[in-house]
Amino acid sequence: MIYQIYPRSFADANGDGIGDLPGITARLDHLVELGVDAVWLSPFYPSPQADAGYDVADYRDVDPLFGTLADADRLIAEAHDRGLRVIVDLVPNHTSSAHRWFREALAAAPGSPERARYVFRDGGGPDGDEPPNDWTSVFGGPAWTRVTGPDGSPGQWYLHLFDPGQPDLNWDNPDIRAEFLDVLRFWLDRGVDGFRVDVAHGLIKQADLANWREPQEILSGNEADRPRPPMWDQDGVHEIYREWRRLLDSYDGGRVLVAEAWVEPAERLARYVRPDEMHQAFNFEYLQASWTAPAQYAVITRSLEATDSVGAPTTWVLSNHDVVRHASRLGLPVGTPRPNGIGIGDPQPDAALGLRRARAASLLMLALPGSAYLFQGEELGLPEHMTLPDEARQDPTWERSGHAERGRDGCRVPIPWEADAPSYGFGPTDASWLPQPPMWAEYAVDRQREVPGSTYELYRTALRLRREHGLGRGTLYWLSSGDEVLSFRNGEVSVLTNFGDAAAPLPAGAELLHASAPLTDEGAVPADVTVWFRAA
Ligand code: GLC
Ligand code: CA
Repeated sequence: MIYQIYPRSFADANGDGIGDLPGITARLDHLVELGVDAVWLSPFYPSPQADAGYDVADYRDVDPLFGTLADADRLIAEAHDRGLRVIVDLVPNHTSSAHRWFREALAAAPGSPERARYVFRDGGGPDGDEPPNDWTSVFGGPAWTRVTGPDGSPGQWYLHLFDPGQPDLNWDNPDIRAEFLDVLRFWLDRGVDGFRVDVAHGLIKQADLANWREPQEILSGNEADRPRPPMWDQDGVHEIYREWRRLLDSYDGGRVLVAEAWVEPAERLARYVRPDEMHQAFNFEYLQASWTAPAQYAVITRSLEATDSVGAPTTWVLSNHDVVRHASRLGLPVGTPRPNGIGIGDPQPDAALGLRRARAASLLMLALPGSAYLFQGEELGLPEHMTLPDEARQDPTWERSGHAERGRDGCRVPIPWEADAPSYGFGPTDASWLPQPPMWAEYAVDRQREVPGSTYELYRTALRLRREHGLGRGTLYWLSSGDEVLSFRNGEVSVLTNFGDAAAPLPAGAELLHASAPLTDEGAVPADVTVWFRAA
């Protein structure tokens, strides 16, 4: 089980309102107590923070906001001392526009080797004042920005699938490949156990940069009857990962690669975890599946089949720093498409129902064979911040979409540790880069620790049992897959989730191991509850 730390929102050691590496190191014992095996850290590299650090200006250092390289070394060493593995984020699709390479490209002429590190093109139309193609940015607006020459005259355009501060690299250029191999070595030599590869499905673009016309979405969603978008999931990406895999395999200790690839269907995603490529690929189809028995049955079955066919584990995930937290998402009416943020004035989820379903969903997920990722705060049942003032928003999506999408700030709010401390114990002061909502005291770690039935204790017990019973390495056998109830066995643990309205009976003689909420007086499983049991 891998725990995602979003450094700017986990723990703030120096009280400036932004979480930092020393803050993480000081809180590692929490993760040990919770029962995690590894942590994944979102980017902490020098960056103008145009996209919260996913715009990297230097791949071999730490942003002063988060600490120093020595702090990173200490964090890795202290994690290893506690038996925790450390995965860092690698952002190869684009650099920051503040990266030395991009500054050199701007200063150089069209056609120069400096420009060939990125995707520069002449504009369309008679005066070159139209973008080279019709692609749009994932964050909204055009995917191209025009640069000006030293004399102020308009020049070429560069591609950015995300923010203009995130120019896409040209992965057909061997210099880029060599550079990233060296970046991998830099962190491997410092002892990291692996890399989460950002936008792993985006590095190679279809050579002709053909128009696409459809609004940009990070999920390529290629159903069989739709052509694959020219910017996502091109076959050429795989050779890059094969080369990286060879490098990782030359190190000891089983270092891993994890793909962030928003690719469907499951068979296409499975190509990223073939034996000579990556080890894991986030299953976003699962993350987006509706809370119904047939939808969950279908996605679990399909996912396991697809990864089995290449001999890899499936990688389950319900929340991360890019999506509405599942304690809130699951409180929206079933079938609501994945929202990009929730704000004041938007339909608000049913908070109690969301938490109840989130607990049931997490218990279901943690019983599935494969690896599982948790996002910081979900072990507290933390909801999305849904009343964040729009002025406080920092996700570029909000501005670039012309305020059509609220963006991802609501899941990135600094997490509560101590109910009665300033910033709920996030740091020593009141400062918090995004305001924390009132009422978060009740979610604080110190309000939940050792409290029977709390979400924190629910996760702790689940993670202990998952480890004791080897569930992550097990095999799933369906026991039943109806319209309202799903049940399966994984080793000696049986699992039942009730998606219906009426309570569902447990098999006679079942010995209860764990439950996401109390059973009925008759010992049946109420609506929106998952139980683990040992069959008679
Ligand atoms: C990934 C990250 C996201 C970021 C984007 C661009 O999807 O998870 O946070 O905005 O890549 O780097
Ligand atoms: Ca700080």
